[in-house]
Amino acid sequence: METVVSGIRPTGNLHLGNYFGAIKSFLKLQEEYNCFFFIADWHSLTTHPHPDNIRSSARTILAEYLACGIDPDKATLYLQSDVRETAELYLYLNMNAGIGELMRTASFKDKARKQMHIADAESDGSVEKEIFNENNKHSVSAGLLTYPTLMAADIIIHKAVKVPVGKDQEQNMEMARRFARRFNTTYGVEFFPEPASFYMSDKAVKVPGLDGSGKMGKSEGNAIYLVDDEKTIYKKVMKAVTDAGPKEPNSKKPEVIANLFTMMEIVSSKEAYNFFDEKYNNCEIRYGDMKKQLAEDIGKFCAPIRERILDIQSNEDYMVKVARIGAEKAHESAARTLKEVRQIIGFRPE
Ligand code: TYM
Repeated sequence: METVVSGIRPTGNLHLGNYFGAIKSFLKLQEEYNCFFFIADWHSLTTHPHPDNIRSSARTILAEYLACGIDPDKATLYLQSDVRETAELYLYLNMNAGIGELMRTASFKDKARKQMHIADAESDGSVEKEIFNENNKHSVSAGLLTYPTLMAADIIIHKAVKVPVGKDQEQNMEMARRFARRFNTTYGVEFFPEPASFYMSDKAVKVPGLDGSGKMGKSEGNAIYLVDDEKTIYKKVMKAVTDAGPKEPNSKKPEVIANLFTMMEIVSSKEAYNFFDEKYNNCEIRYGDMKKQLAEDIGKFCAPIRERILDIQSNEDYMVKVARIGAEKAHESAARTLKEVRQIIGFRPE
């Protein structure tokens, strides 16, 4: 059976972007593949969480994974930090990863720009320049730079062929394929398969934020969480940015409005979507009505998940058991790969 791997950083509650970008695919794939789904707690160290929060954040994501329907009898559910072999593979991959290629990744540049307080408008060479500027008191960690190598290690340690992710992970996935390929060519072996991104539909999903432009995200401060209650969801949706409405029939939707429609396409019925789409095209749209419908549909979608989250969180023993069994299974698979990797590189296999 082919292997699937994916992970989520425990930096807050799961939101609709995580669900429709990733988890929905996890639910489908767990029926047909050998799946490993993990909580990327090592990756979360790039934002330096307090030790007290490390455990509790992982616990939150574990409960939410389960509440969404990830079945520990079908998929292996584990904490990244429980599989230490990943760190060893990360070390080996880093030996053949170029500083230049890592520095050129868009997510590194974005994050480095923020951490070093470089204005967005400044020219592209600014990140490199500031990294070498001894007078800039803000530094960027080697962990952030090598984020894609750790992600590649997560994936190829189980020799995964498919990785269900949202659109924002495309570049990281490209790097993972590159590092897998590089290992094979460096050692003249056909050892690691090149992992492909998996999307539910024919193209990658990007769940938009409702606050203007861009995607929904924890750090964007625009997330609607699966654990939000109906009142909170209503408030968030009613605050969504809109405009004065179309002036001419069949006009192109500006981004803020297109985002509202994209969200409706994701959570509402086809009828509801078509109804408001027609109203828009006739210049009769009332955004207030559309938002009410959307809030209701999101609320209906989240309510049962929210209930299960609360239920599972109150069952500590169950969560501990799931994490322990998952760690054992993931460790077994990782250890098998690492034994061969060490041998290929020239080390003692065990
Ligand atoms: P993270 O934790 O940011 O997000 C987890 C998953 O949710 C998807 N996602 C979205 N999809 C569509 N629209 C959105 N608005 C949206 N927001 C988030 C992400 O694409 C992702 O699939 N680097 C990864 C974690 C990771 C990983 C891995 C993933 C570490 N190692 C190995 C796969 C395989 C990340 O930061 O995802």
